[in-house]
Amino acid sequence: MNTIEHIRATRDISREELEMLLATDDTALVDHLRLAAREVADGVYGKKIFMRGLIEISSHCKNDCLYCGLRRSNTTAVRYRLTDEQIMDCCATGYRLGFRTFVMQGGEDGWFDDRRMCRIVEDVRRLYPDCAITLSLGERSRESYQALFNAGANRYLLRHETASAEHYARLHPSEMSWQHRIDCLYALKEIGYQVGCGFMVGSPYQTVDTLYEDLQFIRRFEPQMVGIGPFIAASDTPFADRPNGKVATTLRLLAIIRLLQPRVLLPATTALGTLHPQGRELGIQYGANVVMPNLSPREHRKDYAIYDNKICTGEESAECRACTEQRLHRIGYETVVDRGDFRAEPTAE
Ligand code: SAM
Ligand code: SF4
Ligand code: FES
Repeated sequence: MNTIEHIRATRDISREELEMLLATDDTALVDHLRLAAREVADGVYGKKIFMRGLIEISSHCKNDCLYCGLRRSNTTAVRYRLTDEQIMDCCATGYRLGFRTFVMQGGEDGWFDDRRMCRIVEDVRRLYPDCAITLSLGERSRESYQALFNAGANRYLLRHETASAEHYARLHPSEMSWQHRIDCLYALKEIGYQVGCGFMVGSPYQTVDTLYEDLQFIRRFEPQMVGIGPFIAASDTPFADRPNGKVATTLRLLAIIRLLQPRVLLPATTALGTLHPQGRELGIQYGANVVMPNLSPREHRKDYAIYDNKICTGEESAECRACTEQRLHRIGYETVVDRGDFRAEPTAE
């Protein structure tokens, strides 16, 4: 059995196989990887791509992650918070445009405490009972996650960033703890959220070994979603001069993750679209099955500047919606008006 069929059959990968697949310039082998990943994704989700509407609710953050443009030490970052009304307006627009999942993402901003955030989630839940509510608000207490779940949130995206504690310590200040982030992920799962983990591809100090640990973590944790995108240097951060992650490596990792976790929800990220004009389409062709067009108010988009040159900062939500649909259509896929839930493996009778 060749390497790709072996990974597919065993849903496992060795460190050596990973190293070879990331380094190879054998285009036939990479084509095989891409086609195998797409076949697996088509087998579970067909030609349907799920859309999530991304609402960037706050650019304030109390953390100081070394890679992120929103880190608290970045004094050039423009800070904004959406009002409750602006968030509800985004959802109304999104619903009209056919979104059935709203992703509320932001920096770790104490303004959005449990009382305020639960009220927002309850309002969205009441007005849009047929929609999924996804949160991506960083690390909070178990009680907070539970309260937000009780208020009606269904899913939570919290990238693990790296499965290596040593690597994590080089990407974050010492007051941030890798173990705490991992504990948060397990707490979210125990509470009953559909959980997304993930990492940046090409982050400083990343190696084949840390990537191998990432893949093994994903196999163990069995998330419903995995968000990966290239690291992109952000001005006025300690990593401003670091090279960006590679599109080719990101695509290969997307395909590998699809083979390891056939049913996982896998977004073709905005970061991929930022580094390559057809990055998101390529992501789909390498096994991704989710896109997350921006639903944030246009006047604030450029200020959610986690990295430089982010796309979709000058467009309206309707433009991103139409653009996404056209792009997917051109490569033979369709967007669906659907919550796009994780499809668990049918259990044998
Ligand atoms: N604050 C929350 C958190 O950290 O989980 C959610 C928002 S944060 C901006 C979302 C993700 O953006 C992070 O998990 C990180 O992987 C990614 N990110 C941050 N800086 C980035 C950069 N320079 N390039 C690519 N992705 C980046
Ligand atoms: Fe804050 Fe998230 Fe950026 Fe870290 S990655 S600085 S937690 S917004
Ligand atoms: Fe935003 Fe294309 S998806 S402009």
